Amino acid sequence: MNVLIIGSGGREHAIAWKISKSSMIKKLIVCPGNAGTELVAQNIELDINDFNKVKLLCLEEEIDIVVVGPEDPLVNGISDYFEIQKELKDVTLIGPCKKAAQLEGSKDFAKEFMKKYNIPTAKHKTFDINSIKSGYKFLEKLSPPYVLKADGLAAGKGVLILDKLDEAKKCLKEMILENKFGNASEKVVIEEFLEGVELSVFVLTDGSTYKLLPTAKDYKRIGEKDTGLNTGGMGAVSPATFIDRFYLEKIEMEIVKPTIEGLKKENINYLGFIFFGLIDVAGEPKVIEYNVRMGDPESEVVFPRIKSDLLNLIVGIKNGTFSEKDLHIDKRVAVTVMLASRGYPEKYEKNKLIDLPEDFNESLIFHSGTKSKSGNFYTSGGRVMCVTSLSENLKQAVEKSLKVCSNIHFDGKYYRKDIGRDLINY
Ligand code: AMP
Ligand code: GLY
Repeated sequence: MNVLIIGSGGREHAIAWKISKSSMIKKLIVCPGNAGTELVAQNIELDINDFNKVKLLCLEEEIDIVVVGPEDPLVNGISDYFEIQKELKDVTLIGPCKKAAQLEGSKDFAKEFMKKYNIPTAKHKTFDINSIKSGYKFLEKLSPPYVLKADGLAAGKGVLILDKLDEAKKCLKEMILENKFGNASEKVVIEEFLEGVELSVFVLTDGSTYKLLPTAKDYKRIGEKDTGLNTGGMGAVSPATFIDRFYLEKIEMEIVKPTIEGLKKENINYLGFIFFGLIDVAGEPKVIEYNVRMGDPESEVVFPRIKSDLLNLIVGIKNGTFSEKDLHIDKRVAVTVMLASRGYPEKYEKNKLIDLPEDFNESLIFHSGTKSKSGNFYTSGGRVMCVTSLSENLKQAVEKSLKVCSNIHFDGKYYRKDIGRDLINY
């Protein structure tokens, strides 16, 4: 099989690393990729939102399968584009169509979908320029903290959680009338604040059946003990060790199955990954958000725990045998710790030489924002790379990753030393 992976982060490195191990792989290309994906695949520089260019590349390289990493091309309709191109009829694209991608691309769409199919989530209402006054009244009826969400994609920054009513009203006004998040905040979802522990659940689906992938917990804040600004994720643990088999079954029955069934009822043929961002509210799982892709850095702990051949599963989606395939999961715990560049998630420095140790002690290094130049690695993003370790025991996995992190050097290196610590004695 010739496979093209679209994207350039740690998630795409993890997917490429996993697929590169498959006995079925012939050619593996990542577009545009990073210095890490270059170690396991061929990188090709290309604008991933220029679908015509992606098509030409697929034809030139005789690609059988395209795996789309990030949400942007999906929300922009790459799957629909592929669907109507006659020359691409033999190419299978792993990623949902534009309509289904609205589960991530529009908070309002996702909330209405959940309401329609009885999927537990926070109560909400959506407001725009015509209903802003009702928005203020709605806020007055809620108790703090107030949760305001830009309807559209806002690079992970579109959610505001505010303690004061006047502040919430001011932000609502700025979002709707002053384009605080550009077009993304033309509509704003206001919802009830939910208190609890967050966890991530993932499935791979062929549109009719699905397989549950390993669960994970993400550490979103920049600072230790979950303080400071939100980031794309500073580390992750898999599985979410604080839930048991029964709770996962509850999630499956109340959230995963109704979502898959709902998509079918909407006549959406969903091929690809669904990421359920959940929160446990006193024993009841609720959906905080859907993503129509894998998480990052969750992928860097999820894929290392999948023992089965990922490409074989994907080929199952291509040829209609997905439901017959088994998915085996490693029982060990995986922990990843992200190394970021000074300043992230705000303005950060780039182009710093990275010094990697010779020996990673069996840990895995997944690159996020890196590039290679004359045989050396340099930083090129806010999140630079992460170190994943597997162990029978969470504490050992954490220690293994931290040890490797301390031996990686670049100017301005920053990482959280408390990833997974909260779960060690949970
Ligand atoms: P989202 O972009 O929807 O994932 O939201 C970003 C973060 O905001 C989530 O990971 C939660 O930590 C927080 N959040 C979102 N919605 C709520 C809510 N209704 N109650 C409490 N926290 C929330
Ligand atoms: N780590 C969260 C995300 O990928 O959206």
